[in-house]
Amino acid sequence: MRHLLDTKTLSRGDALRILDVAEDMADTQLREVKKLPTLRGRTVVNLFFEDSTRTRISFEAAAKRLSADVINFSAKGSSVSKGESLQDTAQTLQAMGADAVVIRHGASGAPRTLATSGWITAGVVNAGDGTHEHPTQALLDAFTIRKRRFGADSRGRDLSGVRVTIVGDILHSRVARSNVWLLDTLGADVTLVAPPTLIPQDVSAWPARIVYDLDEAIAGEPDALMMLRIQAERMNAAYFPTEREYSRRWGLDARRLEALGADSIVMHPGPMNRGLEISAEAADSPRSTVLEQVANGVSVRMAALYLLLAGAESGHDPRAGAEKENPR
Ligand code: NCD
Repeated sequence: MRHLLDTKTLSRGDALRILDVAEDMADTQLREVKKLPTLRGRTVVNLFFEDSTRTRISFEAAAKRLSADVINFSAKGSSVSKGESLQDTAQTLQAMGADAVVIRHGASGAPRTLATSGWITAGVVNAGDGTHEHPTQALLDAFTIRKRRFGADSRGRDLSGVRVTIVGDILHSRVARSNVWLLDTLGADVTLVAPPTLIPQDVSAWPARIVYDLDEAIAGEPDALMMLRIQAERMNAAYFPTEREYSRRWGLDARRLEALGADSIVMHPGPMNRGLEISAEAADSPRSTVLEQVANGVSVRMAALYLLLAGAESGHDPRAGAEKENPR
């Protein structure tokens, strides 16, 4: 793998490889000393043109736990606010010797532009571009679903027959898009639930069923119910009458939580609008995987960085060297 730009073009083999390597990484994260020597001497740049808390910190933790040098670059307070172009920024990073660039950008397609421009030789990881894709989020979601379902027996398995229902602001959600493509590749059944105004126009080309009524979707007994954040910052018009009305019809409240099957899980990529798309009861219930998703995100990003930067040296065990370096 040279880059990780989207899940739409990610093969089943590569997706399973990332999930399986993430299992190995997760095992190392249970040790007292979590750091592996795998990417020592490599430089990972986090290039964030959009606000982010957990994704940036997660990539930083992932790179550091693999012993890479990490440079955090956020657009605020940088020369980007003085009008420096993506090209100039990229060429500066290249001159500094970046081996991988993790990019979050408000423009859909910016990571691909960076990867194919010839400006840099580094591997590029998309950490969220506009409303387009957020591949590592979908991979950590798939990892979380697989782990809850198969536990220690997860490796090598796909999500055949698993029913996943994604609810809310599909229109503006790169998380929804990346999940739809990846879940389809892994064999899951995907249902989307939203008000008609928050369903994208091209949705008929997506491998998913559309339902407008959340209670009807819950009656279908999903294995995972993924609630999405209302992306107020991307809304320049009124997509629903009031927040109260939205949460009454499409929010996961205590009554709907009760109606879910005994084994179904509640997911949210964060940040959550508690009381809008998800109630506190749902967010904090034992069914909620919100914090597991965050923890799994580090393992999945470790796997992605490892496969981009060290994966070519085949036969290499990502855990090698750790025991020697981290005696218990
Ligand atoms: C998501 C994002 O930025 O796309 N969040 C995240 O990566 N943790 C989802 C969101 O912002 O709603």
